[in-house]
Amino acid sequence: MIIAQISDTHIALDTPDSDRRIRDFEATIADINALDPAPDVIVHTGDIVHNGRRDEYAQSVATLAKATAPVYVMVGNKDDRSNLREAFSPSGYLAPDCDFIDYAIDDFPVRLLALDTKARDSNKGDFCRERFSRLTGMIDADASRPIAVFTHHPPFDVMVGPEQLNFESRSIMCELRTALRHSGRIVAVFSGHVHRGTAGHVEHIPATVMPSIATTLRKGEYPDHLKARPIYHIHRFDPAWGFSTQSRIVDEQP
Ligand SMILES: [Fe+2]
Repeated sequence: MIIAQISDTHIALDTPDSDRRIRDFEATIADINALDPAPDVIVHTGDIVHNGRRDEYAQSVATLAKATAPVYVMVGNKDDRSNLREAFSPSGYLAPDCDFIDYAIDDFPVRLLALDTKARDSNKGDFCRERFSRLTGMIDADASRPIAVFTHHPPFDVMVGPEQLNFESRSIMCELRTALRHSGRIVAVFSGHVHRGTAGHVEHIPATVMPSIATTLRKGEYPDHLKARPIYHIHRFDPAWGFSTQSRIVDEQP
């Protein structure tokens, strides 16, 4: 099973780098479409757009419509739940009447759980008791397969960069970590938000963070010839070894 993870495209239509962000997104989808073997699924781990606006989502929907693999999107702190839901509801996997945008994808050898860690009033992550019980309910719904979990905010301390803790409090992040340890069947956690590639863990569960697709917002040191080339993650699952993650540099753009 092959998963292409993309994140933090931050599509905006009225910033000096708006065109660049759109081009980064388009080039990434074109690169994923050219992968051989092709991925089974593409997961966008949030901050699809920068201001939560309908026109930004329309632009993002148009870009993602070019993907040949099935696409699933998640909510990040910059997203607007209702505008995101409206834009992506034709895909059929988003529950129409729910406070949160979380769901399970059951079509593959590994179950994929997409979580909602958006907070009401801040860019940091939140994970309330309702989301805790929703997650444990999704985990318990099928005990037959391993699980990979996708979160916008990474549920571990990021030891590089200025923001070590990416949740509103340490106790909130610990609630999520407790839920992730609930079954023993979660084999990987994949996140975004911090705009730089890094890795950590939730007890024994490996956890990775991918850089932002938007190259103008990407954190970390890159040589000049890579500064305009988006980087995304390809997660390959082997039943004996679990997931291995490759950072893929998008092919040179014309
Ligand atoms: Fe974010």
